[in-house]
Amino acid sequence: MQIDILTLFPEMFQSPFSVGIFKRAIDHNLVGVNIHNIRDYTHDKHHTVDDYPYGGGAGMVLKPEPIYEAVESIMADISVKHEGDVLPIILLTPQGRLFSQEIALELSKRSRLILICGHYEGVDERVHKYLVTDEISIGDYVLSGGELAAMVVIDAVVRLIPGVLGSEASPLDDSHTTGLLEYPQYTRPPVYGEWSVPEVLLSGNHAQIAKWRREQAIFRTLKRRPELLDKANLSSAERQLVSQLKKSNLSRES
Ligand code: 6GU
Repeated sequence: MQIDILTLFPEMFQSPFSVGIFKRAIDHNLVGVNIHNIRDYTHDKHHTVDDYPYGGGAGMVLKPEPIYEAVESIMADISVKHEGDVLPIILLTPQGRLFSQEIALELSKRSRLILICGHYEGVDERVHKYLVTDEISIGDYVLSGGELAAMVVIDAVVRLIPGVLGSEASPLDDSHTTGLLEYPQYTRPPVYGEWSVPEVLLSGNHAQIAKWRREQAIFRTLKRRPELLDKANLSSAERQLVSQLKKSNLSRES
């Protein structure tokens, strides 16, 4: 996957891509990242990227020309065909669709992504309307720019690319992939102070362990994020258990 990022703050992307799974993915040529400074696509002496909003109001608005030029220059370099799909040009903005594991999975299947980090009070509407193919927000709060949001999106997407994580199976168990929160995890020591690891995990009985983990995932989801259960993939027995638990207001989470 080739990822192009348009930003006013290229330095912000240095450290995330130099450690951990990103570094591994880049070193193994599974992912390539190009950071483009929007300011490099200006032509005036002051490298102006923003201007006052028409109609007045607080804050500055990102001008359309440098963003269009940056995207056009990236597109001109693209030699690969795009499976008939439109190349995703994604604007990170609090006004976008809410990012989710499902969107991460959808994006992880693309060979190329262009991410534009919005800034200031906003971006000229002609970028929203005629340039980008998608707009993403990472949550209902306001960040000072799209950079951190872009990193969140890229992290969630890149780890889903086959070969990026050590074990191919691991992303499938993640919270939100199964539709449930993850079960509790323990490692050695078996007793820490007065706290013991649940007996079943030490039993070596894999069927019992799988059953316990599944139940714990359900209890935990019910307690912390009950709305997720509506969409989760549960058996009819599990659905019954959930409605019983809801009725009795009982929590069995350890
Ligand atoms: Cl994508 N950008 C900004 N500036 N704030 C946000 C966001 C994005 N997602 C949530 N808040």
